Amino acid sequence: MSFENQLVKWYRNNKRDLPWRENKDPYRVWISEIILQQTRVVQGEKYFTNFIKKFPSVESLASSEESEVLKIWKGLGYYNRAINLHKTSKEITNKLNGIFPNTYNELIKLKGIGDYTASAISSICFNEYNPVVDGNVLRLLSRFYGLKNPIDSLKGQRNIREIGKKLIIKVDNPGDFNQAMMEYGALVCNPFPDCQSCMFSSKCVAFMNKEVDVIPLKSKKKKPKERFLNYIVFIDSKQKTIVNKRINKDIWYKLNEFPLIESKAEIKNINTLTEFKKLIDNRSLTLKEEKEKIFRVKHILSHQILYISFYQIIVNEAITSGVHLSNLNNYNFPVPITNFINKLLI
Ligand code: ADE
Repeated sequence: MSFENQLVKWYRNNKRDLPWRENKDPYRVWISEIILQQTRVVQGEKYFTNFIKKFPSVESLASSEESEVLKIWKGLGYYNRAINLHKTSKEITNKLNGIFPNTYNELIKLKGIGDYTASAISSICFNEYNPVVDGNVLRLLSRFYGLKNPIDSLKGQRNIREIGKKLIIKVDNPGDFNQAMMEYGALVCNPFPDCQSCMFSSKCVAFMNKEVDVIPLKSKKKKPKERFLNYIVFIDSKQKTIVNKRINKDIWYKLNEFPLIESKAEIKNINTLTEFKKLIDNRSLTLKEEKEKIFRVKHILSHQILYISFYQIIVNEAITSGVHLSNLNNYNFPVPITNFINKLLI
């Protein structure tokens, strides 16, 4: 049997029982694919179940508040993806009469839907022959064919998409084929595979050449950017503090935070910084005590390492339009800030 048909047969016998596989509702498949772009299936399943419970249909998502969507998304990261899901649900509900687009060409026009998601939805739900290329597929096909182009290069990815196109036309169900490649990459041809248990070992170029541990190749990794975030947690006599919303295109877009001073290195004494002086002058605040309480934490994102410091500072004046500490739970904060609030502040 050919590679592609053997893969589909394996999938039909071994696929995991996952909630987005219960039916071919494109709304559910869309949500699952966006979630699975940021997390593994085991964790993604929980997020999917919560999301669908809260927003069971595209209309219910469209009529919700953005902040509710962000709340469900919390901890997944890439919050822009949640914002785009919300925007696109409105587009489908209000402009497309609630009818989910049913072709790759229509799907890819929607905000937040790129080649991967359009291929996944159009193949799984509408039987279109569009191959998906995700990390699992890149690994599986690179090893099977012994490909040496780095998988984080455009050339490497394009090449694998062309191979996917040639394979998919030879199967009876493109949705099953795409899911089979991803499932096999996740369960068998994983980063540390047991090649003895793989049905393709006698045909796999990487296995035969003893290159399984070096393929897929990656071009030299970029060093993650290091950032130093200093959060100033002012507290007045009524237990109120200042909360701002992040509005720049950066990490944590549209989430909340305390007043922030970003620096090039760790700050030993925040009082000496001109940005800090400006901050208290603008608000006409004076410090009650010289010594602030500092809590530092390291938080790792996919491309950035964050060194976060929280400075708890008691002020003499009342903070106008401040938020009471007991009310902070009603705001969407990034995970490390929520942890700080829950552990140390309230
Ligand atoms: N990873 C992302 N989408 C997937 C799917 N539909 N099946 C298996 N693994 C996946």
